[in-house]
Amino acid sequence: MRLKDKVAIITGSTRGIGYSIAEAFVKEGAKVVLCGSSQENADKSYQKILEKYSEADVLPIGVNLTSTEDIISLVEKTINKYGKIDVLVNNAGITGTSPITELSDEDFEKMMNINVFGAFKLTREVVKKMKEYGGSIINTSSMVANYGGRNQVHYSASKGAINAMTKSLSKELGMYNIRVNAVLPGVTLTDMTKDAVSDEMLEGLKRMIPLGRASQPEELAGAYVYLASDEASFTTGTLISVDGGIVM
Ligand SMILES: NC(=O)c1ccc[n+]([C@@H]2O[C@H](COP(=O)([O-])OP(=O)(O)OC[C@H]3O[C@@H](n4cnc5c(N)ncnc54)[C@H](OP(=O)(O)O)[C@@H]3O)[C@@H](O)[C@H]2O)c1
Repeated sequence: MRLKDKVAIITGSTRGIGYSIAEAFVKEGAKVVLCGSSQENADKSYQKILEKYSEADVLPIGVNLTSTEDIISLVEKTINKYGKIDVLVNNAGITGTSPITELSDEDFEKMMNINVFGAFKLTREVVKKMKEYGGSIINTSSMVANYGGRNQVHYSASKGAINAMTKSLSKELGMYNIRVNAVLPGVTLTDMTKDAVSDEMLEGLKRMIPLGRASQPEELAGAYVYLASDEASFTTGTLISVDGGIVM
């Protein structure tokens, strides 16, 4: 087991990519703090995991990433139950599609608040603990950070910020043996894609992907397992694209 007894907080793990990461981490022996935007959502996904893996050691927690109080409480509850945090996966996120002229201040602020500010605040609180013993921080970015996204200035800006945070923190935290990396998914078939990408757009995107298809969320999880594991002990500051080759 590649993550035996590692304690991992995974935000946005009720659905989609985050849920697949949670399942993969459980299979590799990790103790997983499964997070959704509400306790109800986290509890539902926890039950789903237990149905498949009855021995899973999982703590479901509702954390709204716009709330500093929720974020501090998430870290406290994790430490109270497990005594340490070895891995933080900043995966929760929202997207949106709109021409710049129709984007309000509130739209831009909301995107930054969840995708960037939430990840920043949780990372800060986790690092206060993790710097005592080291660990791995993995941020979910996106292909749009490097590739751009039409009508996605707010979303692509948020992911560009995640890439910059990943590189800066890898420089700052290396001395504590904390590795910081990011995974950049391409078009992945989750609720997010259903909401933001029309069938016509999806067909167009598939034509641009060398592998000729969109990915399933499970196809992302291996990159996170690698980055969380000791196999990646000399990997930091890296942005790993898992996008079927759409961005090179
Ligand atoms: N799907 C893609 O094609 C794609 C491509 C590139 C990058 N990404 C990135 O991959 C990550 C996961 O995307 P996905 O496709 O798996 O999305 P998804 O299926 O829409 O799931 C989003 C997750 O984020 C959580 N979340 C949303 N707002 C939150 C908030 N305010 N506080 C706490 N949690 C919140 C949701 O919790 P609830 O279930 O409780 O709502 C859910 O677990 C995101 O960062 C996204 O930007 C996705």
